[in-house]
Amino acid sequence: MTPTGCPEYNPFDDAVLEDPFPTYATMRTACPVHRFDGHQPAFYTAFTYADVVQVVMNRDDWTARYGLSPRFQRGVGFNTDGPEHVKFRRAVVAGLKPRAIEALKPEIDTLVADLIAEMKRHGPGDFHDLFASPLPVAVIAKLLGVTGDTDRFKELSDALMVEGMNSTDPAGFQQIVAELDDYWNDQLAPRRQALASVDDPGLEHLGTVVPDDLMSTLLVFTADDGRRLSDFEITNSLMNLLLAGNETTTSLLTNLVWRLLEEPGRWAALVADRSLIDTAIEESLRFDAPVLGMFRTSLHEVELDGVTIPAKSKIQANYAAANHDPDVFTAPDEFRLDRDPDELRAHLAFGRGAHVCPGAQLSRIETRIAINALLDHFPTLTLDGTPERIAPFNFWGRRTVPVSW
Ligand code: HEM
Repeated sequence: MTPTGCPEYNPFDDAVLEDPFPTYATMRTACPVHRFDGHQPAFYTAFTYADVVQVVMNRDDWTARYGLSPRFQRGVGFNTDGPEHVKFRRAVVAGLKPRAIEALKPEIDTLVADLIAEMKRHGPGDFHDLFASPLPVAVIAKLLGVTGDTDRFKELSDALMVEGMNSTDPAGFQQIVAELDDYWNDQLAPRRQALASVDDPGLEHLGTVVPDDLMSTLLVFTADDGRRLSDFEITNSLMNLLLAGNETTTSLLTNLVWRLLEEPGRWAALVADRSLIDTAIEESLRFDAPVLGMFRTSLHEVELDGVTIPAKSKIQANYAAANHDPDVFTAPDEFRLDRDPDELRAHLAFGRGAHVCPGAQLSRIETRIAINALLDHFPTLTLDGTPERIAPFNFWGRRTVPVSW
């Protein structure tokens, strides 16, 4: 049952999808915890900053074990909690540590320069297709250590986005996962062969026996109990990294460029003062969170903001609504390049707690390098039409951003 006094709210409604923030503002005051029955299973949504933090931080009441999406999923990999999650996460995110990202910076510089040269050759067009979509895929390919047919990698990665986030057809998704698994296994084969000659493969063999990249890290990782990752855990982690890292970083780039161009003077302000770039990135993350919300499941009956939620209920921790909560942010519906740094640090675009995004620094660095170069090469960049929204209901980014210069 919907908590009493709640206005109508349907997260799949066209009007909400188009611009969810006015609806979030209504919900935060009129119905901070809402139950939506138009989805199978029904799910709750937490809209206020305090409730969202409660859902993601209170692990006595809420778990990630049934998946981070609105549907019930298998409790493996990132869909776990406690020591099992810590061990798994440590293995997968080893390649996202500052040392690895620092080493990647010159490669990101080159990728950005190549895309800018391509934009110039192409002439005015869609910033999403020309720049924001290809960059994160190319960066993740470097990080993982993909070699050989990178066009096939981009093709599979794009297909995964379409099937994984936009489609309601599980068969299509399974098909792409199977094709990706073949691709991963081809990539992993030479590494597995090289490690076969080593007695006890470990992190010390990175950069000597096998290349020092994320794919090799997954192969040599040993959990505290001595267990190695299973083949399923390895390919599943690789797929999750693609799903979690690509569209989100693309959305950060499209949302940021859109907001900087929609208001006269913002782009020029950054051209003149590059120290504003980091504030602009954080304000974009706060204002337009690329992940509108992620899900948890109640472990038992839970009382949240006066609403009784039964055991085994799905709830969306709505990060985007929390980021516009006036209890935490001054004039939350204004995009401000002079926002207080303490307020910016409080945004929840990367989540919080045990599942906080391990790719946050990578996407920030990538975006910083990209925006700096775009300001250098396109100081008169202008919006040339109305950007359109990406399709998935719980993600927020632009599918098109027409620009000219
Ligand atoms: C602007 C870009 C990004 C945004 C906004 C973003 C957002 C998020 C959010 C909100 C979560 C927390 C999910 C939850 O609460 O359940 C998350 C988790 C995650 N992100 Fe990101 N992400 C971004 C980029 C990346 C990148 C570049 C990577 C990897 C290369 C990545 C990998 C992951 C992984 C593996 C998780 C799951 C962590 C866990 O469950 O322990 N993300 N991300």
